[in-house]
Amino acid sequence: MGAVAAAAGSAVGLGNVWRFPYVVGEDGGAVFLLLYVIFTALISIPIMMTEFAIGRKTGLPVTSAFSKLAPGSKWGLIGVLGMLTAFLIISYYNIVSGWTLYYSVASVSGWLDSLSEPEVTDFFSSLSSDPFRCIIWMVIMLTATAVVVAQGVSGGIEKYSKILMPLLFILILVMVVRAMLLPGGLDGLAFFVKPDFSKLTTRTVFDALGQSFFSLSIGMGTMTTYGSYLRKTENISSTAIHVASIDFLVAFLSGAVIFPCVFAFGINPGEGPGLVFVTLPNIFNQMPFGRIFSSCFFLLLVVAALTSSVSLLEVVVAYFKQSFKMGRRRATILASVSCLFFGLCCSLSQAVFNIFDNVTANIMMPIGALLIVIFAVTRIKREDMRAELEKHGKPFRLFNLYYFLVRYVVPVVIGIIFINGIVAWLSK
Ligand code: PHE
Repeated sequence: MGAVAAAAGSAVGLGNVWRFPYVVGEDGGAVFLLLYVIFTALISIPIMMTEFAIGRKTGLPVTSAFSKLAPGSKWGLIGVLGMLTAFLIISYYNIVSGWTLYYSVASVSGWLDSLSEPEVTDFFSSLSSDPFRCIIWMVIMLTATAVVVAQGVSGGIEKYSKILMPLLFILILVMVVRAMLLPGGLDGLAFFVKPDFSKLTTRTVFDALGQSFFSLSIGMGTMTTYGSYLRKTENISSTAIHVASIDFLVAFLSGAVIFPCVFAFGINPGEGPGLVFVTLPNIFNQMPFGRIFSSCFFLLLVVAALTSSVSLLEVVVAYFKQSFKMGRRRATILASVSCLFFGLCCSLSQAVFNIFDNVTANIMMPIGALLIVIFAVTRIKREDMRAELEKHGKPFRLFNLYYFLVRYVVPVVIGIIFINGIVAWLSK
């Protein structure tokens, strides 16, 4: 349970509740969902297992795991790429965490109570277009992340989140029921689960792969680092499947709340990164004890965002500690101040925010994932990989399938989607 909880703490975050619904909405609904499920099962889970195995085999975080297995080679650059990816993600992730924190305060204070639908939309636009407020709330979240990382108390946070995350889950379940009962709610559900293949584009495929990587925190070394904490007795394949299932469930249920509301309240599903924030207050306003629900929901989401943000900053701090030979505290301060600088750029410009969001999930993470699997099949012997995946003492029956996926399917699929996606993106 410990290992699953820790890795799930990194995986479940704003990626599930904020990013997933908005990308689904932009990319045509259920077709995206279908691709997302396929990619998660066939591409992302094998990658997560590979990252866990490399981390556990070396006992080292991503910044040194690859150079240990291939000393003197350039493979250590996977660690540098992972660090840069983490760096860019933190810079915009904490802006959204800041919005979430602001919404918790607004819910507790009753500012969202009985707002009409257009007023809910205005409430968000006035926040997102006000750099001053965005920066203040981002700084609060970034500081909270830095404090946790500097003190090395991530374990403590995970203990709390083991209780709080199931609570978030239950809350979302209640919201699903309420959302389905809204007039028009079922049309929203249909948009989310009934594929319309005419909406399938290169972009949908590209985004679905990126979202799967982002949501599972793979392709940049977070899971390699978590792998180094895994005990020998832990079953890597079932840990990866558990983490991916929990992560998927949270994302799926978030979609099952958002889309019925989007249709019931006449919101544009392609609204973009504000989608969750312009949708949810409307449903809380229609629920008994809505203010309490809303306050709990946004606060729990802040905790989920914090555990993910901590896992991101850990990657950067580990790199700074090692490369510049500095202590944990100094490394944390330096890392967070640098992230703050990039965070400011994202707060001041929507375009920069969007670029960071797209480039990290759709470009940097697939490249990282591709390098990790190529490394695994060329630099680690097949039998050594099998030994690592079976270290807990039981045979891994699907090993041949796993190896086939990692050796052929994963690199080819990522390669094709990546090249097509970039071409489509550049020619847009
Ligand atoms: N997976 C996290 C989320 O869904 C974000 C994240 C990405 C965390 C990469 C760590 C590494 O919110």
